[in-house]
Amino acid sequence: MKRHLVLFAVLLVLGGCAKKSGDPSSSSGGTGTSVASTSKYDNGPRAAEEPIDESLVAQGEQLFQSKGCSACHGFGRRISCPDLQDVPLQRTSQWMEQQILHPEVMTKEDPISHQLFAQYSLQMPNQQLTQPEAHAVIEYIKHKNHEAHEGEGREHK
Ligand code: HEC
Repeated sequence: MKRHLVLFAVLLVLGGCAKKSGDPSSSSGGTGTSVASTSKYDNGPRAAEEPIDESLVAQGEQLFQSKGCSACHGFGRRISCPDLQDVPLQRTSQWMEQQILHPEVMTKEDPISHQLFAQYSLQMPNQQLTQPEAHAVIEYIKHKNHEAHEGEGREHK
């Protein structure tokens, strides 16, 4: 098990998150990854289909900076790790919450997270957020997603 980690650490040094730079799915909404939905956290409406609690967005944005998320994740661009802009279209809030609160468990036990781990060859660190903090960050991510697609016309209409 330790050996496994060392191997990934080596890959990380070699390529880090930018390893799959040929992947065409960076910001255009289409994901190259299709995962059988066997994740137990991935049932129900996508996060983007739920209302946004705008009162938490400012706090979420602040946490996104102060908890280090912005070092790895961007919106509409890939810094070095998954672009988060369209994640609310793809995942449930519950899944995102688990990923934020228990990333080290998710990459091992959740098929979607595991596939991301395989793709990026990097383990997202546990940033020690509380559940309410994770909730605020998720509202912020949903807000960013909504903002990004606002100008594009509605999906249905
Ligand atoms: C050191 C870089 C790093 C930091 C810091 C980091 N992440 Fe991640 N994140 C990743 C990687 C890499 C993945 C893909 C899963 C894996 O390999 O662990 C990921 C996956 C995710 C996903 C799922 C993306 C998808 O496509 O479904 C979300 C949501 C997320 N991170 C949110 C956050 C939030 C919120 C924070 C701050 C609390 C954060 N991350 C901090 C590297 C990071």
